[in-house]
Amino acid sequence: MIFYFSATGNSLYISKKLHEDQGKELINIAHAFNNNRFCYELEKDEKVGFVFLVFFLLLCLIIMF
Ligand SMILES: Cc1cc2nc3c(=O)[nH]c(=O)nc-3n(C[C@H](O)[C@H](O)[C@H](O)COP(=O)(O)O)c2cc1C
Repeated sequence: MIFYFSATGNSLYISKKLHEDQGKELINIAHAFNNNRFCYELEKDEKVGFVFLVFFLLLCLIIMF
């Protein structure tokens, strides 16, 4: 499962590449946040990845939640 957050599209591009290559489910963190969707079920041994932008050496607040 891949969680992504993107402002200008770079992280979205990488996330889509990962999705194409590995077939992992893509979760848009902004949509999840807006829909109060914070719980996800993983399959056994499923890996979780996060793809997100960095602004001024900081993680975006939405990622820290
Ligand atoms: C105002 C601003 C601050 C940034 N600060 C950093 C930074 O501190 N470190 C870094 O590696 N990239 C920094 N970047 C580059 C972005 O993280 C990079 O363009 C990223 O790919 C944007 O992701 P997105 O297209 O998914 O929104 C900054 C970009 C902007 C516009």
